Amino acid sequence: MALASSSFTKMKMLPKLLLFAFLIFQFSLAKIGPPRPNPTITRIRPRPPLIPPCVKLMPRRPKTNPGPLANGATILHITQELKRNITYDPFGYTKTWVGDNYCLFKGFFCDVVPDLNITGLSSIDFSGARFGGQFLNFYRFIRNLPDIAIFHANSNNFSGVIKRNINKLRFLYELDLSNNKFLGGFPGSVLGANKLSFVDFRFNGYNGSVPYRLFNIDTDVLFINNNGFTGTIPAATFGNTPALYVTLAANKFTGPIPPTIGRAWRTLREVLFLKNRLSGCLPFEIGYLVKATVLDASSNIITGPIPKSLGCLFSLQILNLANNHLYGAIPESLCSLPHVYNITLSNNYFTQVGPQCRKLITAQRLHVQGNCLPGFRCQKTATECATFFCKPRSCPRANTFNYVPCKLPAVAAVASVHDMVPPSPRSYAALETPQPLPNRRV
Ligand SMILES: *[C@@H]1O[C@H](CO)[C@@H](O)[C@H](O)[C@H]1NC(C)=O
Ligand SMILES: *[C@@H]1O[C@H](CO)[C@@H](O)[C@H](O)[C@H]1NC(C)=O
Ligand SMILES: *[C@@H]1O[C@H](CO)[C@@H](O)[C@H](O)[C@H]1NC(C)=O
Ligand SMILES: *[C@@H]1O[C@H](CO)[C@@H](O)[C@H](O)[C@H]1NC(C)=O
Ligand SMILES: *[C@@H]1O[C@H](CO)[C@@H](O)[C@H](O)[C@H]1NC(C)=O
Repeated sequence: MALASSSFTKMKMLPKLLLFAFLIFQFSLAKIGPPRPNPTITRIRPRPPLIPPCVKLMPRRPKTNPGPLANGATILHITQELKRNITYDPFGYTKTWVGDNYCLFKGFFCDVVPDLNITGLSSIDFSGARFGGQFLNFYRFIRNLPDIAIFHANSNNFSGVIKRNINKLRFLYELDLSNNKFLGGFPGSVLGANKLSFVDFRFNGYNGSVPYRLFNIDTDVLFINNNGFTGTIPAATFGNTPALYVTLAANKFTGPIPPTIGRAWRTLREVLFLKNRLSGCLPFEIGYLVKATVLDASSNIITGPIPKSLGCLFSLQILNLANNHLYGAIPESLCSLPHVYNITLSNNYFTQVGPQCRKLITAQRLHVQGNCLPGFRCQKTATECATFFCKPRSCPRANTFNYVPCKLPAVAAVASVHDMVPPSPRSYAALETPQPLPNRRV
């Protein structure tokens, strides 16, 4: 199984292309408007490996004959406790949890523990197991798996408070607790687990505001969609996130998308803000996100025009700003983006669309129904539009909506949607429940 073979060694293989890409973009972008912002935290890339490259470890042994096992007594003891607490086990995991060799237990995967140089429990995969039970205490369980690197438990009934000592798990780098029964405030203690590169808390009952430190942690994936988070997206730190995939969707976040988002231009690929209560105007700094392929802030109450800077999103494939209170002209620069596949601006208050965007509409790649566009089908009524514009509207930093912090590409011919290869975004899968993600490895 790939999971076991790669659990400790995968850390070596993280992207080396970042620096290279960074240099290219640095030189190809004309600087108009304020300078490109950088995160206030410096990251080491590529990540340092868990195992120093020169260290020779024992070869991995077959699970039927793993040799001496690390932390055997502790792991067997806590596994039996969890087994007693599990009252529903439709896929028959717990009946295999017998004997002393935990490498043979269903859902348990072993590997050579780097600093012990013997076989240990490196990874747990309970995703989709649908364990039931009154109290399946996640923290108590994982805290007794000292060598764990990967813990995936999508779609179970784990709950309980996650305490600070989770940071004592020196190898833990993937944590998927999505679709469980966690409640209360954000588990701030998890932020202390400083090796985490995959953080997935989506589909739980978490509420309250998210700590600003969440966006300072060094992770590649940050999925917190479908909880009950409230408050604003922490502006001071948001753009510090080095995550490639960020999903804040389907919470109750309020306030604007922070301008600091522009600091994530070296890393951010997909970001989902949809189905919150975000308001305010779009910050022009979004236009710095040259790596972004997916940007979805639909179903909020965001207002103002689309900043022209969005024409600098050279990697963009999918943009969804539907169901907001946006108005003004649809920037022509947006409709000339080289990789754009599907732009959805439905149900806003746009009033103008130029020739390049009209081509995109014909090609079925730009969707504008439910706006205030003269001469187009399925628009809002004149009264609805008039009522909206009755109220004076403006955005702070009004001059920034015209900044174009790049050299715009030449206007190109427009291919029909049917002649294009649909993109395959990764983050949208995070909005679906309860199946584990088909391919969660980044
Ligand atoms: C690990 O164990 C193997 C054999 O069991 C040995 O060859 C190797 O040198 C050991 N490595 C370390 C770092 O102790
Ligand atoms: C899941 O856990 C909750 C407590 O967090 C409990 O009330 C509920 O009965 C449990 N469900 C199942 C199916 O065991
Ligand atoms: C098992 O259930 C008991 C009683 O609710 C609880 O105290 C304990 O933390 C649980 N342990 C695990 C590993 O779920
Ligand atoms: C958060 O959820 C907990 C548990 O469901 C509840 O007791 C608490 O009042 C909620 N807090 C907020 C701020 O909604
Ligand atoms: C474009 O995106 C919208 C909104 O997500 C979706 O409804 C529509 O089906 C998409 N169109 C194509 C061709 O993918």
